Amino acid sequence: MKDLVKGSKSSVDRRSFMKKGLTSAGAVTLGAGLLAHGSSVLAQEGHEEQSGRLTKGDAAILRFLAAAEILETDLWQQYNELGGIQDAEVPGGSGSPLYTAALKQLDGDMDQYIHDNTEDELTHEVFINAYLASKGAETVNLDQFRTLPSSKATGAQQIGRLTNLMQLTVDTSWWTRYRSRTKNPDFGDKFANAIPTLATGQHPAIPRTDDDVKPDPSKAGNISDLTQVIANTAGFHFAFIEQGGTSLYPMLAQRVSSLEVLRIVLSIGGTEIAHFQTWHDKAGNVIHLTDVIDPVTGLKVTFPDLNSSPFGGEDFQTNLIMPEPTAFLSRKLPACSIIRPTSTKGAAMGALKALTADGLFIGQSQAFFDYLRDLAEDADEAKRGRH
Ligand SMILES: [Fe+2]
Ligand SMILES: [Fe+2]
Repeated sequence: MKDLVKGSKSSVDRRSFMKKGLTSAGAVTLGAGLLAHGSSVLAQEGHEEQSGRLTKGDAAILRFLAAAEILETDLWQQYNELGGIQDAEVPGGSGSPLYTAALKQLDGDMDQYIHDNTEDELTHEVFINAYLASKGAETVNLDQFRTLPSSKATGAQQIGRLTNLMQLTVDTSWWTRYRSRTKNPDFGDKFANAIPTLATGQHPAIPRTDDDVKPDPSKAGNISDLTQVIANTAGFHFAFIEQGGTSLYPMLAQRVSSLEVLRIVLSIGGTEIAHFQTWHDKAGNVIHLTDVIDPVTGLKVTFPDLNSSPFGGEDFQTNLIMPEPTAFLSRKLPACSIIRPTSTKGAAMGALKALTADGLFIGQSQAFFDYLRDLAEDADEAKRGRH
């Protein structure tokens, strides 16, 4: 029986099932096989792409991660061009001196960290796609969607972008989420924003034009309050992006089938955590500013002292940069210091929704959203099986 199943399996062109529109027809055909042959067939039928080298689920998970990494590279590249270090490792752009100086108020090495985070994302993207190709699986290419405008500020390349860093609504609830000793988003708990004024409206995290980086002789280092607000916004946005990756990898790892793919997901996911930890630390160093008005949007932005009333206490304290222990799996079990959330259900779609709500894709086409939704749905359909 086993040989029969194997024989019929290899005669089917698995790739045809991957093509858009054929997925559900394929699933129906395979469903009949499952009913007849039981769970031992489950691991084989309908889960292999291209001569059994990667399961369908593993390929789908890796493709969603490749897309996420391409998007991360695109946004980090924009940060690096204006506020990082432009060199042979991360080429492009020529820097915005006052924006870079404003970022360095958070840490003297911010430009190096931005450079290194950018390079990391580029290697993630290139590696995952190369691994998919090495297994004969389809890869991900978003080049057709590089249509969004670049910053007009001096220092940015004028090329098409995938992401928009100039109209962000930044969720800063990761700050209180990682400080809470009782709540966990996997139990449905909600968390307060550390910087409430960034949670509404649309804010730039890079200078839009040279008007955003005009020298202000009345301020230390000629850094205007507006330039500092933009750099502060970036400081919190860096951590928002990387806490997302920190959760996404362990979420998807739980549905990976092959040990090698698990190794990839755990190994890359660990660097996302390293990024988040760094940015979490730096965000606590933002310059406190009150009611700074963005002349373009008319919005007021405040970066409060998180160590003082009405903030303060363990939920806001700026030197609590490591995850506080909290409830995990069951409130009956002892509190544990963990990454959160890590629930695997709907992980890819959740990540896509969070990036969309962030404003990163403002200006993107319907075709872009359709393609990413397809990738996310396929990743979320992946089930852990034997391989
Ligand atoms: Fe990454
Ligand atoms: Fe990342």
